[in-house]
Amino acid sequence: MCGIVGYIGTQTATDILMAGLEKLEYRGYDSAGVATVLEGEIHCVRAKGKLCNLREKLQREINPAQVGIGHTRWATHGKPEEYNAHPHMDAAMRVAVVQNGIIENYRELREELKARGHEFRSDTDTEVIPHLIAEFLQKTPDSFLEAVRQAVNELRGAFAIAVISADYPDELIAARQQAPLTIGFGQGEFFCASDTPALVPHTRAVLTLENGELARLTPVGVEVYSFEGDRLKKAPRTLNWNPVLVEKQGFRHFMLKEIYEQPGVVRACLEAYLDANWSAENASKSPVNLSLLPQLTDSLERIQILACGTSWHASLVGKYLLEQLAEIPTEVQYASEFRYAPTPLTPNTLTIGVTQSGETADTLAALEMEKRRRIDLDPKFQPRLLGITNRPESSLGHLVPNIIDTHAGIEIGVAATKTFISQLVAFYCLALDLAYQRRTVPPARIEEIIEGLRLLPAQIELILESQERYIEELAHEFAETQDFIFLGRGINFPIALEGALKLKEISYIHAEGYPAGEMKHGPIALLDAKVPVVAIAMPGSVFEKVLSNAQEAKARDARLIGVTPIDDQDAEETFDNLLPVPVVEELLSPILTVIPLQLLAYHIAARRGLDVDQPRNLAKSVTVE
Ligand code: G6P
Repeated sequence: MCGIVGYIGTQTATDILMAGLEKLEYRGYDSAGVATVLEGEIHCVRAKGKLCNLREKLQREINPAQVGIGHTRWATHGKPEEYNAHPHMDAAMRVAVVQNGIIENYRELREELKARGHEFRSDTDTEVIPHLIAEFLQKTPDSFLEAVRQAVNELRGAFAIAVISADYPDELIAARQQAPLTIGFGQGEFFCASDTPALVPHTRAVLTLENGELARLTPVGVEVYSFEGDRLKKAPRTLNWNPVLVEKQGFRHFMLKEIYEQPGVVRACLEAYLDANWSAENASKSPVNLSLLPQLTDSLERIQILACGTSWHASLVGKYLLEQLAEIPTEVQYASEFRYAPTPLTPNTLTIGVTQSGETADTLAALEMEKRRRIDLDPKFQPRLLGITNRPESSLGHLVPNIIDTHAGIEIGVAATKTFISQLVAFYCLALDLAYQRRTVPPARIEEIIEGLRLLPAQIELILESQERYIEELAHEFAETQDFIFLGRGINFPIALEGALKLKEISYIHAEGYPAGEMKHGPIALLDAKVPVVAIAMPGSVFEKVLSNAQEAKARDARLIGVTPIDDQDAEETFDNLLPVPVVEELLSPILTVIPLQLLAYHIAARRGLDVDQPRNLAKSVTVE
């Protein structure tokens, strides 16, 4: 949430900063700004709204400065107005700061600073930082780094900052505490950014700052220090990067491109983890190789999964798989709830954090809390923590020693699609591995499931090829609809939730996902001819039940849309519109049933002329609690 960039070197800073902010705009787009040091002054330009507004302002001037910082904002403290946009400066306008995160003690700092004569121009928490740094600079005028170091030690909360000063034109200071920040190393030029897409056009040599570290960037190098002031020895690593992932490649939106990437993502994840030579006859080892430490999964009695948003929905499918296949009682918790009402500690419990960004503040904090409370109980105890993410290099990767990389790569569209599918595949692999180890599923059945998994990429391709045009046409009929209900049962209940969330996120249409059997206990009161009902009815244990629940909706005049198996007579008779998917066994169906729902949400939002990739009020990486 919020993107920050910094540059020091020999090129025009604003060009580099703007290109970087463009790559980070998915983190927030309420307002944006850049500040540079030019001829002994700070030059700051800010604009409300999307980055294009800032770009327009910048086009009116020539600014050859070679050091600067930039920010794209997702508002927390203070409305999205220009006066609240970053960078923020001290009263004398000698220090400029961009921040991602929340300064929790900003109120008391602000009052103290006000009492000492500082005047504030914004409603933000961030503005206290340049004022504090300016004060410390009066005490340590020979060290910009030291002033920033003292200032960050006054701050509480989760934050990443980049700072420049008119009086230190050859320095840029960056600091990290619980919010991501990576340094990029070029030839005679150095960068910092909240996320790597802003860095990779310039360099693959990167260094991710750890919590409690700050870095001094100059045109000749980078020095890293702890918040205590100790110099740390750190070397950059080389980033593996596929630039294709951050381009639209002819698609109208990133979201549509990412929907179409899903067959490849499923294939990549299965190839990475399934043993191609495994068969039920030759089953002396697990068919899945996740490279997990044995102490993680030995004698497991319970699993708890912590996640937010779409990752929480993937985790609900994960629970179903882990319970049905591996027979391990599994709970799924919202990370933000778990933090303040954790489940009682139980022995032999595996905690799994699921996050596409690897940066969600609540998920990271919940995992950290879980680790701490287990160590507090027994200092020698090795907590069983596992992360599932497509960003193994993220903060999650630093926090959790065991990671399942879902191989989805970076996702740019704010509404998660391919990362969701990839999380599902990771859960299939994990559940099969545990089922094999615990002997809860016979090898022949494991083989059958694996064969089914291997067919899924081609089946997703078939849905995309055969359904998209029809769904686009159908979506036109719903451009003015105000409410939707999504129904599913069993393993497809989380898909109903996900279908509703996708629609809400990008089309701003109110939508509710419900277990189909629960509809009669409340939501049925909402139904009339104006409220379409989308029901997921796939062959298996609840097929007839869902059809009956759909009939109940039809009897209340609701228009019925069914995600159903191809060529199913009963489904054809029940639904007004069909979104058919290939017939697969129920256990595997979520990977197919979610595809038409993603397309439906996408086309309704596109038809309404909305900004599909950057929906209002949302952000891709939610780094505040
Ligand atoms: C934000 C995103 C959602 C995502 C959620 C959790 O709200 O817009 O798409 O599902 O965060 O993110 P995570 O990175 O933890 O999966």
